[in-house]
Amino acid sequence: MVGVGTAPLRGDDLLIRVENMVVEFNTSGGTVQAVSDVSFDVAEGETLGIVGESGCGKSTTAKAMIQLPPPKSGSVMYADRDLTEISKEELRRSRADLQMIFQDPISSLNPRRTVWDIIREGVDIWGTAGVWSDARLVELMEQVGIDPQYRDRKAYQFSGGQCQRISIARALALDPKVLISDEPVSALDVSVQAQILNLLDDLKTQHALTMLFISHDLAVVRNVSDRVMVMYLGRVAEVGDADALFANPAHPYTQALLAAVPGSGVNASARLEGELPSPLDPPEGCRFHTRCPHVTEVCKTTVPEFTQHGPDHWVACHHPQSTPVEIR
Ligand SMILES: Nc1ncnc2c1ncn2[C@@H]1O[C@H](COP(=O)(O)OP(=O)(O)OP(=O)(O)O)[C@@H](O)[C@H]1O
Ligand code: SF4
Ligand SMILES: [Mg+2]
Repeated sequence: MVGVGTAPLRGDDLLIRVENMVVEFNTSGGTVQAVSDVSFDVAEGETLGIVGESGCGKSTTAKAMIQLPPPKSGSVMYADRDLTEISKEELRRSRADLQMIFQDPISSLNPRRTVWDIIREGVDIWGTAGVWSDARLVELMEQVGIDPQYRDRKAYQFSGGQCQRISIARALALDPKVLISDEPVSALDVSVQAQILNLLDDLKTQHALTMLFISHDLAVVRNVSDRVMVMYLGRVAEVGDADALFANPAHPYTQALLAAVPGSGVNASARLEGELPSPLDPPEGCRFHTRCPHVTEVCKTTVPEFTQHGPDHWVACHHPQSTPVEIR
């Protein structure tokens, strides 16, 4: 039975299972409901794209997964351990497995440190220094496209794209199983974006990575993801196989996002109108009801459950725009 407001769960090759995650922030204006009862699975070796408007909870979801900060409630199963329950020391060790890279590569690196020190940083912190020979780190620099002869240059001497390459090397130096990329190309020039995306794709294969790829750019997400999760105001609206979701978007919010993408084939009349409600006081029932062209009374009072629209395609909507299917 799929719970209210909860994404359905898959079984095969399961690496990460997030269940009923809630993250709130207490602010002077009230409690921000950043992530509300979010559940999803990540299969080993896949890339799960997470999309949605600014403020919908993409980064908070990813950070809460790695307990930065821990969610208010819910569980995060990673390789048979619940990261919300384990000791600090166990969590510290698990963190090496789950590495994150961020949108702004320049500010996420200490500009006064050398490239070599930055790449070694995690290795030193996590205490795996003995495992990593200098030769291995040089190889890693080559893999990310930074010439090892520049190892003693400081971070500020590199461009944004090069800094993102250095951030990627720093993350991979820990030999992670999971790489969470939070808007990794949004701050970069368009010409550099494609290079970094290609690099991530190559490294995914070389390092047998599982990836979470966060972006508000649907075209980018479509290119890199095996599966996609669409978030709206702290909840999951639609999740599933990327091809199925883009070919047959069933949630009015997904349709609205796609309508804004030229050539998506989705009718422009589905375009998003109205203001994003405040996460301090999100709408009752379906959180999208204040902007949805298909809203009815039930939407205003009852949180929609997920229905299945394909072998791996789930939608949380009372009036989905494709026909639900029964799949055993
Ligand atoms: N430390 C914090 N304190 C208070 N509110 C926060 C904090 N971090 C995030 N929020 C709020 O939580 C909500 C979700 O934010 P989050 O950064 O996860 O969104 P996002 O989908 O990653 O957006 P963007 O696309 O702009 O990066 C937003 O309303 C945001 O303002
Ligand atoms: S539940 Fe209702 S308001 Fe929400 S997306 Fe579906 S039709 Fe629109
Ligand atoms: Mg973000």
